[in-house]
Amino acid sequence: MKRGDILGHEFMGEVVETGRGVGNLKIGDRVVVPFPIACGNCWSCQHELYSVCENSNPNAGIAEKMFGHPTAGIFGYSHITGGYAGGQAEYARVPYADVGPLKIEDDLQDEQVLFLSDIFPTGFMGADLCDITGGEVIAVFGAGPVGQFAIASAVMLGAEQVIAIDHLQYRLDMASNKAGATATINLTEEPDVVEALKEMSGGRGPDAVIDCVGMEASDSHGVLHAAERVKQATRSETDRGPVLRDAILACRPAGIVSVIGVYGGLMDKFPTGAFMNKGLQLRTGQCHVQKYLKPLYQRIRDGQIDPSFVVTHRLGLDMAPNGYETFKHKQDECVKVVLKP
Ligand SMILES: NC(=O)c1ccc[n+]([C@@H]2O[C@H](COP(=O)([O-])OP(=O)(O)OC[C@H]3O[C@@H](n4cnc5c(N)ncnc54)[C@H](O)[C@@H]3O)[C@@H](O)[C@H]2O)c1
Ligand SMILES: [Zn+2]
Repeated sequence: MKRGDILGHEFMGEVVETGRGVGNLKIGDRVVVPFPIACGNCWSCQHELYSVCENSNPNAGIAEKMFGHPTAGIFGYSHITGGYAGGQAEYARVPYADVGPLKIEDDLQDEQVLFLSDIFPTGFMGADLCDITGGEVIAVFGAGPVGQFAIASAVMLGAEQVIAIDHLQYRLDMASNKAGATATINLTEEPDVVEALKEMSGGRGPDAVIDCVGMEASDSHGVLHAAERVKQATRSETDRGPVLRDAILACRPAGIVSVIGVYGGLMDKFPTGAFMNKGLQLRTGQCHVQKYLKPLYQRIRDGQIDPSFVVTHRLGLDMAPNGYETFKHKQDECVKVVLKP
């Protein structure tokens, strides 16, 4: 990020102006805007792989150096994803507005549809990648907003057991009471999460494990975590790996590890041996939001889910820095902050 960048990639609003090529929206429409910017025409978009759109990232060169290929532009996120101005603002410019935004035409409240922009489809994709057909045991690391939707989605898709893992009890309570987790593991009380997950799944291990934590994971195991913190601070490693390691160790042989938490660069001590010998599948990605928008909007309209359950804080735009502090330090039982410009 650079000083002066406008943050925010989960937003909705009212159309106040349209570009020449936008025939499907008109002034006054209420729209939810997906966080990946996608052209709708390239090979990736044609295959519904919107978060790796080949045309929407003007800084493709930076991404290519880091990842081997460019990835899609993302609003208010970073310069590796295009440096686009974000939605925590009174006005936002939305490129390819004929492809992304979803028009909301019923009387659902903003907060019921807002999270179609990111975290609901993201959590849903985390579960969708697990090939749930009914009866599975699914473990979800991280009971933040994304984890809550991964849990709720795994339940909707038919998983029999959904186990939420975090060290914040209030988030685990939300996972049980609102998202539908059938069991929880509080890491402050359970030192060996891999063993606990095996025990809870008849000794076999979960059929799939979803990582909803990513590169900023904290580690209950202590020493390795301290070493990784030092490596991150000295820039010899960018990503901390305890969750991905535990996910790979806990998952049953030939199971699926679905990585929805964000990783940014490089990680040490990736357990290649366990990953390969157990025959695991690793599935991941920034969410292809545009693919999930309409079906998930329909699930909200059908009353299968009301995504507003994650909202704990509502603030004016001028209070955004306080919102960031509260969220970052998990103060005041914060799960999700909504800014109202
Ligand atoms: N793939 C995508 O398209 C996409 C989209 C949105 C967000 N994300 C990513 O999803 C992740 C979660 O987002 P969020 O908004 O829920 O964040 P969050 O920080 O609120 O949630 C992360 C949770 O993980 C818990 N946690 C930390 N270390 C843990 C550990 N070792 N084991 C278990 N739990 C642990 C934290 O206590 C916290 O509750 C982030 O990495 C975010 O960037 C990905
Ligand atoms: Zn495209």
